[in-house]
Amino acid sequence: MEAALYDPADGYYTSRAAIGYEGDFLTSPDLGPTFGKALSRAMGEFWAALGHPPSWDLVEAGAGRGVLMRDLLGTLGRERPEAARGVRPAIVEVSPRLRDQQALALEGRELRYASVARALAPIDGVVFANEVLDAFPVHILVRGTDGVREVFVAVEDGRFVEVLRAPSHPDLRLRIPDTVPAGGRWEASPAAEGWLAGIAAALSRGYLLLIDYGADEAGLLARSGAGTVRGYARHRLVEDPLAEPGTHDLTASVNFTAIRRAAEGAGLQHVGTSTQRDVLLALGAREAVARPSGPLDLLRATSRRSAVETLLDPRGLGAFVVMCFAKEAPQDGLSLFGPPRPPGHAYP
Ligand SMILES: C[S@@+](CC[C@H](N)C(=O)[O-])C[C@H]1O[C@@H](n2cnc3c(N)ncnc32)[C@H](O)[C@@H]1O
Repeated sequence: MEAALYDPADGYYTSRAAIGYEGDFLTSPDLGPTFGKALSRAMGEFWAALGHPPSWDLVEAGAGRGVLMRDLLGTLGRERPEAARGVRPAIVEVSPRLRDQQALALEGRELRYASVARALAPIDGVVFANEVLDAFPVHILVRGTDGVREVFVAVEDGRFVEVLRAPSHPDLRLRIPDTVPAGGRWEASPAAEGWLAGIAAALSRGYLLLIDYGADEAGLLARSGAGTVRGYARHRLVEDPLAEPGTHDLTASVNFTAIRRAAEGAGLQHVGTSTQRDVLLALGAREAVARPSGPLDLLRATSRRSAVETLLDPRGLGAFVVMCFAKEAPQDGLSLFGPPRPPGHAYP
């Protein structure tokens, strides 16, 4: 999975990652500026909670096409000029191909780039990552009749096939909960957890906001041992994720219990967990727009409304998990975990 996604020559993210309507999958920022606009309010609040620092870091990890950072900085400049004035934006990105797209989307902005968070340390401000944890390789463990096995990939008759062997690391045996049924699968991502620890170490003070699809351990156990690794190409599920590695995306649902454990183990405090729907509503995503004054305006308002409803869809993007951590920073009173806000509400 790691090679299929990140091989320096042929990995999907290295050589052909295509995000957006013309690509292989859509993410929330692709649906228009609403997502970035709502999140910029959270960023403004984090900045206020840190005591309105005259300069602060705003770091996006795994920025895809750079659309979210662009929308976020744009709204911050309009709605929170004081916060925008001292912001030091930066992106942590491993894909040279996507880094080029980000530079294009953010042309004219002074922005730092790094491939690891450590290079930006000490980070004083906010780090956020949308749909990045799901892009880390996982180990797939299987509860066999004779103990825990791991899924490896072998070649048979010129095709890639799954084979079961002893786990590649003894610790992996301990990762699979007792309640996974015989024959059932469980996925673990030490890579994602290690990455998180790196961010936690680089953050000297501030917040980390993670948004992704997945569930807590209880939610994943409810799948009765069905694994979640899957591939996407051109907005469709790939039938055989092992076929033609590097030509399509590969992903796995995030285990947010493991993520929380790793973050807390790395010195972060859990601030809150919610759904994308509730967080966006709390951040005023549905607030009224000005009365359309002509047919074009009406069309824009209609398409914006439908984008907002897609972002809030409780069976789709709205069900994504939002998890927030703090380090040396206040944990109370943040409205992203509060009730939905009425139009015109002023954020602190
Ligand atoms: C599924 S895409 C999401 C992109 C973007 N956040 C969005 O919402 O459209 C995953 C992103 O994470 C990046 N990525 C993967 N592993 C990474 C790592 N270890 N460090 C930083 N970025 C990484 C990928 O290159 C890509 O930009």
